Amino acid sequence: MLKIHMTDTYKAMSQKAAGIVAANIVLKPDCVLGLATGSSPIGLYRELITRCRAGELDFCRVKTVNLDEYVGMAPEDPQSYRRFMRENLFDHVNIDPANTHVPNGLAENLADECARYDQVISSLGRIDVQVLGIGHNGHIGFNEPAEEFSVNTHVVNLQEVTRQANARFFSSEDEVPRQAVTMGLRAIMQARQILMVVSGESKAEILREAFMGPVTPRVPASILQMHPCVTLVGDRAALSKLCDI
Ligand code: F6R
Repeated sequence: MLKIHMTDTYKAMSQKAAGIVAANIVLKPDCVLGLATGSSPIGLYRELITRCRAGELDFCRVKTVNLDEYVGMAPEDPQSYRRFMRENLFDHVNIDPANTHVPNGLAENLADECARYDQVISSLGRIDVQVLGIGHNGHIGFNEPAEEFSVNTHVVNLQEVTRQANARFFSSEDEVPRQAVTMGLRAIMQARQILMVVSGESKAEILREAFMGPVTPRVPASILQMHPCVTLVGDRAALSKLCDI
C-alpha cells in the first residue's frame, strides 16, 4: 500500500519523515534502520539529531545498515558514504559506531564483500524502516535500470546520468567513481516499511513512472508498487505528476 504525504517545503518534508523514523525508534529502541545518503535525507537526519539532543530519541540500541558505498573509496574519504553518514548523523547522536554498517568500498575482493554485507543484513533481521531517495533514472540504492531486478548486494557500474547527478559533490564529474557496492532489492523489499523522501520538480516524472507506470527493472523503484507498506513523503513539486494538486 502506498501512502503519500505532500508538504510545501523541504523542511516540512524532513520533519514529517523524521516523525516516522522517530516513531520506529521510540516503539522499538533496538530497531534496524536502513539508511540512504544524498541530498534528500539530509534534512531528515538533521531533525533526528535535534530530537536526540532534546532527549526525545535514544539511539543507543539502534542499528543501521546503509544502502551503498562507492568502490575504491576509503571510509575516511570526504566523499565516501561512510563519511557522509558520520557527518550528517552518526557523529551527532548517541549511536554505537559498531551498530552502523556501510559496505566497504575498499575491499580487495568485492564479491566477498557483497556476500559479507548480505550476511550482515540477515544477521540484523528485517530492516524496520528503509529510508530511500530516488535517482533520476529510477534507481533506489544504486540499483540501476537493467534487464533484470538485482536481488543481492552487488557491484554496479554507475550510469552516466547517476555520475552527472552526483558530480555536484565532487570537484568534477571525472572524479565521480564509476562503480559502487549496493544493497540489492531483496533486503529493501523485505523491510517492514519503506520511507521514500523526494523533493524538487526534477524528480516528478520519474516518480510518476515509478508509482504509476509498469513494474519493470528499467525503472527499479517501480518494484516498490509490490511492497505492502510504502510511505512517500515529498514536496509539491516532486509529487506534481502523481497527485492532483
Ligand atoms: C543514496 C542512494 C541513492 C539516492 C538517489 C537520490 O545512498 O542510494 O539512491 O537516494 O540517488 O539522491 P538525491 O537525494 O541526492 O537526489
